[in-house]
Amino acid sequence: MSNTPRTTWQLGDRTVNRLGYGAMQLAGPGVFGPPKDPAAARAVLRAALAGGVDHIDTSDFYGPHVTNGLIREALHPYPAGLCIATKIGARRDAQGGWLPAFSREELTAAVHDNLRNLGLESLDVVNLRAMFSVHGPAEGSLEEPLAVLAGLREQGLVRHIGLSNVTAGQVRDARRMVPIACVQNHYNLVHRDDDGLVDMLATDGIAYVPFFPLGGFSPLQSAILSGVAARLETTPMAVAIAWLLQRSPNILVIPGTSSLVHLRENLAAASLVLPGDAVAELDAIAATS
Ligand SMILES: NC(=O)c1ccc[n+]([C@@H]2O[C@H](COP(=O)([O-])OP(=O)(O)OC[C@H]3O[C@@H](n4cnc5c(N)ncnc54)[C@H](OP(=O)(O)O)[C@@H]3O)[C@@H](O)[C@H]2O)c1
Repeated sequence: MSNTPRTTWQLGDRTVNRLGYGAMQLAGPGVFGPPKDPAAARAVLRAALAGGVDHIDTSDFYGPHVTNGLIREALHPYPAGLCIATKIGARRDAQGGWLPAFSREELTAAVHDNLRNLGLESLDVVNLRAMFSVHGPAEGSLEEPLAVLAGLREQGLVRHIGLSNVTAGQVRDARRMVPIACVQNHYNLVHRDDDGLVDMLATDGIAYVPFFPLGGFSPLQSAILSGVAARLETTPMAVAIAWLLQRSPNILVIPGTSSLVHLRENLAAASLVLPGDAVAELDAIAATS
């Protein structure tokens, strides 16, 4: 692990800052319905861009349709360098449950919904979100949904295809069918099942975008993490972000927050360099958990 992380990486045909922003937390509780204060949510989005973010992760199943609407209201017309990555492959039921939506009709409708709700003529990156299991990546063929997505790309509605919640085998199979711009799986300094996949993708120049980079709905807690943060006079979340940035140059970090204070703290983590002894201590958290 290098301790002088590069600041940008390729996402499809764009070069983006490695510290981006995940918009999921802007929807209402349980990622369902609108937020209590939509103006505050829009302010977070504007502050993210003002702070140098040029990669936003979203989906029309956040809300549903809520975060995309907030992004359009806050940021449209979009600055030229902004890359918005979205996801398809799931839908919400009336109670907010998450269901697969993998049919040709559902995938096609999802691309058109994202285009309309974001106010775009083509989507920069569309991740196909696998839903074979609610607990994480699971075996299953992505061939049919990927063929649908490849067709939408040929029509010019999608510029780059990514994968989410997938196994290394599914990534390999998908790459035989279409170019894959990025992989978005659960990964952070405690949850490191994808260590091998991160390194494999780095070798091929493909972005790896961890979801739950700070631990998700229950942010990471560890005495070691708190100890390292105290020693470096920063916060545990800043250390968690810096650890990801130092872990591999192809990692794009998309911490989610609905708070301006947290956003600023997260953006500041881009300049935090962890010394080797701190990295070794942090690596031990996953090894022992
Ligand atoms: N592909 C997928 O299946 C998938 C799944 C989940 C997420 N995602 C994407 O990944 C992005 C990131 O994941 P996430 O937002 O779920 O989880 P996360 O970034 O790991 O953590 C977000 C949580 O951390 C809190 N937080 C953020 N900054 C903080 C700080 N500086 N100090 C203390 N707490 C802080 C947030 O609360 P506050 O709002 O109070 O700051 C929120 O509760 C999402 O926004 C979404 O775009 C994708």
